[in-house]
Amino acid sequence: DGFPATRLFNQGYSYTYDDVIFLPHYIDFPTDAVSLSTKLSRRVALAIPCVSSPMDTVTESSMATAMASLGVSIRFSFVRRRVLLRSLHFRYRVREPEVEIFRFCDKEARVSEYMTKSSITPPTSYSFEDVAGYLAKDYSEFVPLARDNGEGVGEIVNLVTSEDVERIKGFPKLGLSSLAPEGSFLVGAAVGTRESDKERLEHLVKARINVVVLDSSQGNSIYQIEMIKHVKNKYPELDVIGGNVVTAYQAQNLIQTGVDGLRVGMGSGSICTTQEVCAVGRGQATAVYKVASIAAASSVPVIADGGISNSGHIVKALTLGASTVMMGSFLAGSNEAPGIYEYQGGRRVKKYRGMGSLEAMTKGSDSRYLGDTAKLKIAQGVVGAVADKGSVLKFIPYTMQAVKQGFQDLGASSLQSANDLLQSGVLRLEVRTGAAQVEGGIHGLVSYEKKSF
Ligand code: XMP
Repeated sequence: DGFPATRLFNQGYSYTYDDVIFLPHYIDFPTDAVSLSTKLSRRVALAIPCVSSPMDTVTESSMATAMASLGVSIRFSFVRRRVLLRSLHFRYRVREPEVEIFRFCDKEARVSEYMTKSSITPPTSYSFEDVAGYLAKDYSEFVPLARDNGEGVGEIVNLVTSEDVERIKGFPKLGLSSLAPEGSFLVGAAVGTRESDKERLEHLVKARINVVVLDSSQGNSIYQIEMIKHVKNKYPELDVIGGNVVTAYQAQNLIQTGVDGLRVGMGSGSICTTQEVCAVGRGQATAVYKVASIAAASSVPVIADGGISNSGHIVKALTLGASTVMMGSFLAGSNEAPGIYEYQGGRRVKKYRGMGSLEAMTKGSDSRYLGDTAKLKIAQGVVGAVADKGSVLKFIPYTMQAVKQGFQDLGASSLQSANDLLQSGVLRLEVRTGAAQVEGGIHGLVSYEKKSF
């Protein structure tokens, strides 16, 4: 009944997640027996198979800390705002003062012109519990954190508000978190392949990132191959993720150069126009299956990047061989995404833009699209808005539970067993016709309320 994956994906069609459907298998374990633990790259293990996309309307400090408490977060890397997320549970030093607090102030102004004197100035090394304790004891709304600037003068490096403390307290217990061996949250950073990116990487390595992602829409290039060699040479302890790729040929080149992980997807993202503008890309289900099949032979984990809009898409990506999914639009409407909510047609929305949109490229993301040397920038993405989704701390655990149920229906208690069932031909698929897709969605109702949690 149905088709084995080898047959379905070798007919010359490019399938998206919605095009295909798994046939249910046999259940002999409860949902909670399903383990979603996985690997982001060869040496980076994660508790859940989700990462946030390195996009400037998706991942900044707030998203990075929230996702790190759930899994891992790959942050868009500007050196000035480099990753300061380590040891969040132990040391509170999340936000960068220049960006968050003094942004609107005269650079020459003295702190005393803006703030009243306080007897409480805990240094940055104070623990989260101590800072929370200070705030509670003093009934203060915020407390500045200072460090000695080496000349005996306290330099303010951060400001912790009672709201921050409440937010951090809402993080899930460490059981869900993906931690580095020394107990701090895992953190990744995305860089390009220019000379200046090598300098950025040096700072990021000093800030002790766990993994670097080479951010390019077409990763099979001489630039990326040289950058992989550079990283492998200079930082042998650091895992490097290459991409993006969508074919076995592209993947093979990067695997041979020594990548520790591959990011898969071209033009499947919700804000992408690459397939229309450049006539290249691939349906994401086919791309993930093809690349993962090749990468598995070299034990290189695959990230299914883009095109995820529901938990079913995550089940499909993981079963087709991805070890993790990377999400932009799925996370962009959350409280933790950068930016403020606005109202559009009575709906609360947040801005979400492609890194290949003209707006983002003007802000420096053009190297991802190799547009930095061109005088005329060609847009490969759009600027849009997504609906308010609440906190990732609520909807990601909910989504993970739904993914576990999907795995249970497939008779797979882990990512590896799902992919094994697929590769061995035990698990079967079919292509859904247009009508079958309509039938598989909500239909025939005059109105409905889609409330999940
Ligand atoms: P989703 O579907 O999760 O996709 O919103 C996020 C992924 O899309 C890629 N990306 C782009 N692709 N033009 C593109 O062709 C763009 O402007 C663009 N911006 C992001 C990227 O891989 C991201 O993770």
